[in-house]
Amino acid sequence: MTNFRFKIMEQGDLKRVLEIESISHSHPWTEKNFLDCIKVPYWNYVFLEESYESPIIGHCIVMPGVEELHLLNITIDPRYRRNKIASQALIALEKIGLEKGYARILLEVRKSNSLAIAMYEKLAYRLIGARKDYYPMDDNHQKLREDAMVMEKIIR
Ligand SMILES: CC(C)(COP(=O)(O)OP(=O)(O)OC[C@H]1O[C@@H](n2cnc3c(N)ncnc32)[C@H](O)[C@@H]1OP(=O)(O)O)[C@@H](O)C(=O)NCCC(=O)NCCS
Repeated sequence: MTNFRFKIMEQGDLKRVLEIESISHSHPWTEKNFLDCIKVPYWNYVFLEESYESPIIGHCIVMPGVEELHLLNITIDPRYRRNKIASQALIALEKIGLEKGYARILLEVRKSNSLAIAMYEKLAYRLIGARKDYYPMDDNHQKLREDAMVMEKIIR
């Protein structure tokens, strides 16, 4: 377990956020994507472990809706994965969501992202549907798009 805290994401965090993003995704979010989220503002967090040389170890972006929180991005620096950072962050998000009166958390995940799907299942998210051809694929694949699995967790 890692002893990290949430901090609201600011423009000054983006260099490090983009670094983590670029080594974690086949189609990383751009600086503009994050700036747009900061501008709205959505719930934009970095995960900070102050004792580390590069204290930002991950990030998440959540779009609040009327009744639901929509998790748009959760990414952990590959060096610190498998330490329950994402799990702890999602549990904390549930707590915040519940306190603020939200009923559920919703997310999309690539059909091929079995480790993330395993994590969500462990946290009691359930599959509620699919969005066909939702994500772009990388250039090495003949198929151009990949389906998203839609998962939700009822928190109230
Ligand atoms: C998915 C991701 C956020 C998980 O972060 P994490 O902090 O390493 O996750 P946790 O340590 O909380 O893992 C919880 C569970 O998820 C599953 N899991 C996570 N990483 C796994 C791996 N590399 N192999 C197998 N299972 C894995 C396991 O069931 C794990 O529980 P366990 O360690 O008790 O077996 C991280 O791998 C990541 O940033 N991936 C790239 C971005 C991404 O795919 N984001 C999700 C998009 S929807």
